[in-house]
Amino acid sequence: MNLAERVLAAQKGGRGIPTEPGAPAGPATPARAVTEPGGPVPAAPSAPRDNAPPAPWLPVPESSTQTAPSPTVTWAPPSAKGAQTDDHRLAHRAPAQPVVVETHDALARIKEDAVEQLFERMGSRLNDPNLDETALQGLVQAELNSIIEGGKLPLTARERQRLIREVHDDVLGLGPLQPLIDDKAVTEVMVNGPFRVYVERAGKLTLSQVRFKDEAHVRRIIERIVTKVGRRIDESSPLVDARLEDGSRVNAIIPPLAVSGSTLTIRKFSKDALTVTDMIEKQSLTPEIAELLNACVVARLNIIVSGGTGTGKTTLLNVLSGFIPNDERIVSIEDAVELQLQQDHVVRLESRPPNVEGKGEVTIRDLVKNSLRMRPDRIIVGECRGGEALDMLQAMNTGHDGSLSTIHANTSRDALARLETLVLMAGMDLPLRAIREQVSSAIDVIVQLTRLRDGSRRVTSVTEVHGMEGQTITMQDVFEFDYSAGVGPDGRFLGTIRPTGVRPGFTQKFDDLGIRLSPSVFGTGQLWSGGRH
Ligand SMILES: Nc1ncnc2c1ncn2[C@@H]1O[C@H](COP(=O)(O)OP(=O)(O)OP(=O)(O)O)[C@@H](O)[C@H]1O
Ligand SMILES: [Mg+2]
Repeated sequence: MNLAERVLAAQKGGRGIPTEPGAPAGPATPARAVTEPGGPVPAAPSAPRDNAPPAPWLPVPESSTQTAPSPTVTWAPPSAKGAQTDDHRLAHRAPAQPVVVETHDALARIKEDAVEQLFERMGSRLNDPNLDETALQGLVQAELNSIIEGGKLPLTARERQRLIREVHDDVLGLGPLQPLIDDKAVTEVMVNGPFRVYVERAGKLTLSQVRFKDEAHVRRIIERIVTKVGRRIDESSPLVDARLEDGSRVNAIIPPLAVSGSTLTIRKFSKDALTVTDMIEKQSLTPEIAELLNACVVARLNIIVSGGTGTGKTTLLNVLSGFIPNDERIVSIEDAVELQLQQDHVVRLESRPPNVEGKGEVTIRDLVKNSLRMRPDRIIVGECRGGEALDMLQAMNTGHDGSLSTIHANTSRDALARLETLVLMAGMDLPLRAIREQVSSAIDVIVQLTRLRDGSRRVTSVTEVHGMEGQTITMQDVFEFDYSAGVGPDGRFLGTIRPTGVRPGFTQKFDDLGIRLSPSVFGTGQLWSGGRH
C-alpha cells in the first residue's frame, strides 16, 4: 500500500488523520525502521502491534491532553462476576489497574515514510560540512515537497503543514524534542532513553508525553547535536558536552555507560535572563538583599554564590555581574558561555575540551591564569570546580578584588570546605592552615541558594566570612531563611529570608566608599514590604 492509499484507508476507517497532536489516532500498523543519515540501516523486524512503542512518539503538548479528546483507549476489567466472555478471561490475567492502550497516529507513519525517503534522497549531503544551514534547509525543503507531491497524499493544508514541520524537526532539528525546546515554559529537558522524557516547568519535574520511536531515534538526534559542534559520540567516547545553536547546554551519554538507554540533558538557555526584579517577584530574594548585594559588588567584595545543581547559581551570578559599574573591564571565564553581561567592556573566555586525539585542552585554570595578564578590573569565573580555585583565591588576595564565582555546595560552611578541597586539587601541596588563611582572607560574602521542595529557588542565606580563629574559619549569617514558618496549603513555603540582626563588618567598607544602605536592610527600622514579622 502506498502512502496515499494508506491515508485513504485511514480516513475510510473513520479515524482520519488527527489534525492536532494528541487528537485521536489512526489505525495501527507495524512500526517501521528509521534510516540513518548517510545510508540505510537494516530495518528492524516489523513488530506486531502489541510490541510497538508504548505510545506514539509524536510530541503531545501536555495541555492538549486535558482539552482534546484522549488518544487512548482505556480498558478496564469488567466488574460483573461470572461473565464468560473472552474479555472476562483476559481480565483475570490483566493487572488490577486499567490498561491503557495507545493507538498509533496515522500521520506519524506517513511521517516515518517521508523521513525515510528523505534520508534516502539526501544521503551523505545531510552531513556535508560544506553545506551551510540555509542551503541545507533549502535542499531538505525542496526534497520534502517533491516527496509529498509525488506521494499524492490527500492531506489538508493543515495536515500538510504539520507533516512538513515535523519531518523538518526530525531531519534538521531535534525531532520530538523540538516543541519542548520551543516551549518557553520548559526550562530543562531530560531524556532517559526513548520512552521517558522529563521536563522541568516552574521548578517542577514532570514526565512529558513526548516519546521517541526507539533507541536508534534518540541516538540520531544526539548525533545531530554533537556533530554540529564538531564533536562525536560513539562507544569510544560515549559522553559529550555540547551546546545548541541557541546557547542551551547539552550533555549526552550513551550505552554502555548509560545503562537505561541514551540519555540527554538539556538546560535551556533563556534569551531573557532573569533580572533582579524578576528574582524579587519570584521571592527568590528580597529588595533588601538585592540592595545589599548591589552594594557588595560596587564595593568590590569577593562574592561566592553557592548552591546545589540547578539552584540558579549562574542566574544569580549574572544578576550580580549586572551590578558591576560600566567603566570597569570585566573578564568572564566559563566552561560554556552562559552569562549575559550587559556592560560594554567585557572579554568573554570559554574553556575547551581536548580534541579526539586528547590534545588541545584549555582549562578554566589556564584561562584564570591568562586573565591576570589581561588587566582585568573584575574576574568572573562561571563555576569553580577544580584547581582554578587556588589561582582565583590568589587573584582575589593580590589586587583583583571584586571577583565573583559560583561553587557547588549545599550550605555556606560546605562551600568553604569545598573551596579547600578544590585548592588541594591544584596539587601545590599547601598546608591546610595556609589554604584556610587564603580562603578566609579572600572571600568576603557567600550567598547560598536552595531549590526548595515547592520548586522555588531562593536565597537561603547571606553569610559574611570574618577570618580565622585557631584552625577554623569564622563566619556569620547576615540573612537566613525562616523555615519555621512552614508550608501553606498549596505546598508553598511560607517563610522568607530574614535579617539575623547582625551588622556585617564589611559595612565599614561601604562607609569608607560613601555607599549608603537603607536602614531597613539589616532589620533595623522599617522592614521590607511583604516580609513577615
Ligand atoms: N530565582 C529563580 N527563580 C526561578 N527560576 C530560576 C531562578 N534562578 C534560576 N532559575 C532557572 O533555573 C534553571 C537553572 O538555573 P541556573 O543555570 O542558573 O542554575 P545553576 O545552579 O547554575 O545550575 P548548574 O548547577 O547546572 O550550573 C534555569 O532554567 C533558570 O532559568
Ligand atoms: Mg551554572
